[in-house]
Amino acid sequence: MTRERLSFNEDWLFMLGDSAVYSDASFKDTDWRRLNVPHDWSIEGEFNKDNPSRIEGGALPGGIGWYRKNFMAPIEDSGKRIYITFDGVYHNSEVYLNGNLLGKRPNGYIGFQYDMTPYLKFGNQNNVLAVRVNNSDQPNSRWYSGSGIYRNVWIEKTNPVHINFWGTQIISNSVTTTLANLTLSIAINNTTSEVQKLKVETLILDENNQEVTRINDTISVLQNDTSFLSQTIEVKNPKLWSTKSPYLYKAVSNVYSKELKVDSYETPFGIKYFQFDAKKGFSLNGEPMKIKGVCNHHDLGALGAAINTRAIERQLEILKEMGCNAIRTSHNPPAPELLDLCDKMGFLVMDETFDMWAKKKVEFDYSTQWAEWHVRDITDHLLRDRNHPSVIIWSIGNEIPEQFDSTGISIAQELSSIIKKMMPGVMVTSGLNFPVPENLLYKSGALDLVGFNYHHTSFDSFPINFPNQKFIGTETTSSLNSRGVYNMPSREIRVWPKRWDIPFYEGNPDNSCSSYDNCHAPWGSTHADAWIPIRDNDFLSGMFIWTGFDYLGEPTPYQWPSRSSYFGIVDLAGFPKDAYYMYQSEWTDKPVLHLFPHWNWKKGENVDVWVYTNCTEVELFLNGKSLGKKSKDSKSVHLEWNVPFEEGTLLAVGKQADGSTMMSDVKTAGKPSKVVLEADRSTISADGNDLAFITVSVKDATNNLVPFANNRIEFKVGDGLEIVGVDNGSQISHESFKASFRDAFNGKCLLIVKASKKPGIVTVSASSQGLTCEPISIELK
Ligand code: GAL
Repeated sequence: MTRERLSFNEDWLFMLGDSAVYSDASFKDTDWRRLNVPHDWSIEGEFNKDNPSRIEGGALPGGIGWYRKNFMAPIEDSGKRIYITFDGVYHNSEVYLNGNLLGKRPNGYIGFQYDMTPYLKFGNQNNVLAVRVNNSDQPNSRWYSGSGIYRNVWIEKTNPVHINFWGTQIISNSVTTTLANLTLSIAINNTTSEVQKLKVETLILDENNQEVTRINDTISVLQNDTSFLSQTIEVKNPKLWSTKSPYLYKAVSNVYSKELKVDSYETPFGIKYFQFDAKKGFSLNGEPMKIKGVCNHHDLGALGAAINTRAIERQLEILKEMGCNAIRTSHNPPAPELLDLCDKMGFLVMDETFDMWAKKKVEFDYSTQWAEWHVRDITDHLLRDRNHPSVIIWSIGNEIPEQFDSTGISIAQELSSIIKKMMPGVMVTSGLNFPVPENLLYKSGALDLVGFNYHHTSFDSFPINFPNQKFIGTETTSSLNSRGVYNMPSREIRVWPKRWDIPFYEGNPDNSCSSYDNCHAPWGSTHADAWIPIRDNDFLSGMFIWTGFDYLGEPTPYQWPSRSSYFGIVDLAGFPKDAYYMYQSEWTDKPVLHLFPHWNWKKGENVDVWVYTNCTEVELFLNGKSLGKKSKDSKSVHLEWNVPFEEGTLLAVGKQADGSTMMSDVKTAGKPSKVVLEADRSTISADGNDLAFITVSVKDATNNLVPFANNRIEFKVGDGLEIVGVDNGSQISHESFKASFRDAFNGKCLLIVKASKKPGIVTVSASSQGLTCEPISIELK
């Protein structure tokens, strides 16, 4: 065996509290709670506006927690190097093995690895790994961070001579459709006390694991030293990676010592070329395209910060279906699984390292670590992410206070030069606040792309203010919506919260925000207003909308009882808000005809009826009577009718460019009669990790969604599934995400169940007073 990578997630012990003795190997931890990581203890807590995380941080508790894991190291492994990798611990972690400190890492988002070999006991002896996590220094974040070992943990076993952690780099130079020149750099670590003369053979494999080409080289590595080998290799007629066809190759680097294979290291990569042009915008592999991106924070709604690959994949599937092709990892290194999925599913990525530098935004934030850690953190972030074909833009920071201070110039230059050295070709940017040429980060000359947040009314003047510069909308929009809430008149724009010298209207007393595209933060805009200029101007390469999904914390307007954001195009439970269909109609070729709002109003009330569509013409009917035909003009992204309400059926009939028709209707719903369960997938893996997301709808007797239903729904699952989350997308609910019941919000809620490792068919049922419910089955395979 050359190298092994094993999950180290299972069977940890956890204690919320702190004591110096918890790091001792001999400490009796038998009464601690047994759990698997990834784990986030904050999400299990209670919402309280007085929690030190503040409402902006999600109003959930932080504190100090310890994890311990008892394990044996097989005797066959003595003589190997044994490493432990944490993909992310929030934050201020300290890791001890058998009482010895392996290391400390303040940054909660970066991965890190420790060599356990010197302190490991092999054979029939117990080892104790103890991890202290300190998230008591709050507030330290402007959004919900989560607390704990919230990303995966791995054991890596290698031979004494091996390729380093994150030790390969693959750069594709001068790519065409007929040829790609690859340069590989491989860091080889010799932990023995002898010089090693090694042969290194790298094979390039295609998607079907068929060999494309190979190269052999030799290298000598001194005792207890690391050497870098450079290899160049040609790939003829490369299949290019793109968002539509995300083709992945693999480099397998085999290291031989005296004819014995001592390591084999796989690096997935893609081959592509791209360009940002000051006049023509962005192109990928020579094809012009807009960057249609969203910003997202890292939490996964009801699951908190605890990462789960299927939960991230579901988010990306929902976004892909909308036509989104890019993700900004605001404002920190993401989970490695997110980037793996972006590579596979075809998303471009703007990878972002920092939300602040040396100047603080909140009291205990990363600025307190800046001086000691920033070079190490950005370097590790680059080492980890540099081979992902999806990553094309690197952000050195979001709305950095130093953009207004001359110290920003040298820091921007320092960070940019680290990036250029480690990831040549990636475009360096920063989310700037004020789009003026006097901006000091712009003036530093460190940015390849001028990125600014908001200011859509300045887009037009970009070529004048920034001649020959390349543009990216690093952050746009900040629209505020609650799913299923409609304030009329729909054309009256509400700007929340009340601040700044611009018009505003009172918000809704229940802290909800309208889902017509008519409510936004004062620094932002409606969805339509940010998108239309980007769409219509070639020099604007694209945008990252704030945000794809609602996230925990930052509930602008910052008013209790709100505890999660309103910015998402999709709510916290994963249910699209109406704007989702605006993007789908503008960003995809799929036929879209989305008619809203619901059809339960007071008799005679004038209702604004909107349609998001890419049909050439739409005719609206109320109870069979035509209310006229409409078509979008070049500056509108929706159609609109004002209709005096009358009970019955509202029907939209759309005509596609090819002459075909499609229909969409909403009907006046009667009283709640049943609960309907629909799983995103009815078969999931019996792997102990996979999830089914079950949409729970309250419907009337004739299957119409009841638009204001808020019935409490209780769930039961059979043996083999576990309830791991419930949600309804309401930004003000203080119900626990970890309960086995949930109140519906505007007719819907969500149940998330997790697979055990036992194959079988498991029943999921729901009950609610006065309502019927058909159970469903989930197959675990
Ligand atoms: C931006 C900021 C984001 C988020 C957003 C809310 O200014 O970069 O992190 O706070 O505002 O609108």
